[in-house]
Amino acid sequence: MEAQIESLRGEALAAIADAPTAADLAAVRVKYLGRAGAIPLLSEGMRSVPKESKAAVGKALNALRTDVTAALEGREQALANAADEAALAEIDVTLPGIPPLRGSIHPLTTLLDRAVRIFRRMGFALADGPDIETEWHCFDALNTPSYHPARNEQDTFYLPDGRLLRTHTSTVQIRTMESQPPPVRIIAPGAAYRRDEVDATHLAQFTQMEGLYVAPGVSLADLKGTLEFFFRELFGEGTAIRFRPHFFPFTEPSFEIDIQAAALGGKWMELAGCGMVDPAVLESICDRRRDRVYDPETVTGFAFGFGLDRLAMNLTGIPDIRMLVENDLRFLKQF
Ligand code: PHE
Repeated sequence: MEAQIESLRGEALAAIADAPTAADLAAVRVKYLGRAGAIPLLSEGMRSVPKESKAAVGKALNALRTDVTAALEGREQALANAADEAALAEIDVTLPGIPPLRGSIHPLTTLLDRAVRIFRRMGFALADGPDIETEWHCFDALNTPSYHPARNEQDTFYLPDGRLLRTHTSTVQIRTMESQPPPVRIIAPGAAYRRDEVDATHLAQFTQMEGLYVAPGVSLADLKGTLEFFFRELFGEGTAIRFRPHFFPFTEPSFEIDIQAAALGGKWMELAGCGMVDPAVLESICDRRRDRVYDPETVTGFAFGFGLDRLAMNLTGIPDIRMLVENDLRFLKQF
């Protein structure tokens, strides 16, 4: 029996060493280790081995199985390595690679991110609303009834069903108060649309950032403090800020904000509209909600809104607003 074991070992190891492919090797495995393979067959002979040699023969059989298995694995690995090497031989690793295209951040996005970060530090949460709006959210609820002259200044695109593309992000003031009770302290960046002739300083679609803070006791001082802090953070300590009386239907009193900053070229720039939320707006929210949590006798608020496109242009020296949307790579790659 021992002689048989030894000759089988020699035969199996030679077959393994000679197997030229993985498939041949698999056949060798079946031949020697498979259920009807040579080694299991030989093991069956154990029954007729005399008692005194059983231990030694069993040990030799086990060693045979272990050695053949190890040899199979070794050869398998060697064949796999050879296949890998053959595949790599086709590749010239000294060829230059394909450089990945590196994107860059659009100047509007950079400005938006900075602005959002500053307001978040003051506890403002991000709010959102649809670009396609009802007339009510865009105008009526903002104290701008259909006969109001302010509607002419904000002419826009109407859909056949009477909805429209929002002319300002002030719609999000309304949507926020409709859906949550005070206190609310939100900013809402997003697209706004007007029926403007497109030229170097006008687009039919632009980007605004709205802000709203409504709670008991919010005052004009809070409005000024918040916006002064914001613009100084954005444009630097030396920034001069001017609140100029103005009119908006949905705030009273209302202001326009002018800024003078080195980062903006040092000249005064009209940047934002703001004011204290008009009690008529809060009343229309009360009507809509069928409760009095926004009763103008118990809560007050301020709101502001500004366009980001011209700001981004001034900050980066872009001469034509259309460049912001044309997606010309020669332009975009500069940022
Ligand atoms: N919605 C106004 C505009 O687009 C800006 C504004 C927002 C003014 C909030 C006052 C308060 O011109």
